[in-house]
Amino acid sequence: MRLAELGGARLPRGSSPRLPPPVTKLAAALKSAACRACLSGASLLLFLLIFIVLAVLAAAMVFIDPKVPSYSVTDFDVINFNVSSDLTLHARLNITIRTENGNKKIGITYLEDSNVRLVYRSTDLCSGKLPSFFQDHENVTVMSIMMEGSVKLSTEVEESLEEDKMKGDVPLEVFVKVPVKLRVFDVDTVSFSISVRCDLVLDDLQPGKKVTIKSTKYTALW
Ligand SMILES: *[C@@H]1O[C@H](CO)[C@@H](O)[C@H](O)[C@H]1NC(C)=O
Ligand SMILES: *[C@@H]1O[C@H](CO)[C@@H](O)[C@H](O)[C@H]1NC(C)=O
Ligand SMILES: *[C@@H]1O[C@H](CO)[C@@H](O)[C@H](O)[C@H]1NC(C)=O
Repeated sequence: MRLAELGGARLPRGSSPRLPPPVTKLAAALKSAACRACLSGASLLLFLLIFIVLAVLAAAMVFIDPKVPSYSVTDFDVINFNVSSDLTLHARLNITIRTENGNKKIGITYLEDSNVRLVYRSTDLCSGKLPSFFQDHENVTVMSIMMEGSVKLSTEVEESLEEDKMKGDVPLEVFVKVPVKLRVFDVDTVSFSISVRCDLVLDDLQPGKKVTIKSTKYTALW
């Protein structure tokens, strides 16, 4: 009776000897024990697999060393910025953006359908597009973007704009949203969007005059 012997051997030490349970019950108990053993074996294997995958990913991350690219508005050239008598603003600006891909292993493809918006006190003034191009690793690219728009301003916004220009403190927000693909070892990732908000303070918005960027603050929005 191998089953009975096995069953006996599994009795906890120190417990008083009992009559062996019926063979069918014992077989069921053994089967469930075996099943538990095989389950714990499978979960151990799964655990090992997860551990290996995480270790490989961690090593890859250390090797690839991903960095968020940096963006800065370096020049603000006002070509047109006039408000007609019906409070319609016609804006035409040439803004220069410097983008630096500081990654050593990751290239960035900037795709079409990007959107750059210039916003003043929740009013969209004008918009433009980034060029579509591939930026290699450790590359700095300076690009100029033509921003154009006509918008009807509310009286409050027009008044506060005049006040801010008089004070020499015009707070603006530039929102950049651009779909990108990352390229790692010649393999492109799926596309996703990078969103950056840039808070700027300008001293003026007078066409033909050199505009000074008094302060900038960048926030990545994901
Ligand atoms: C105002 O802007 C519009 C559109 O950019 C332009 O056609 C027009 O000549 C400008 N007017 C003045 C007075 O600058
Ligand atoms: C926009 O500004 C840049 C840098 O100041 C200049 O090189 C470029 O020619 C300008 N583009 C237009 C259309 O004026
Ligand atoms: C950076 O990338 C741009 C676009 O591919 C290229 O025109 C430029 O020459 C590159 N700059 C350097 C320093 O490699």
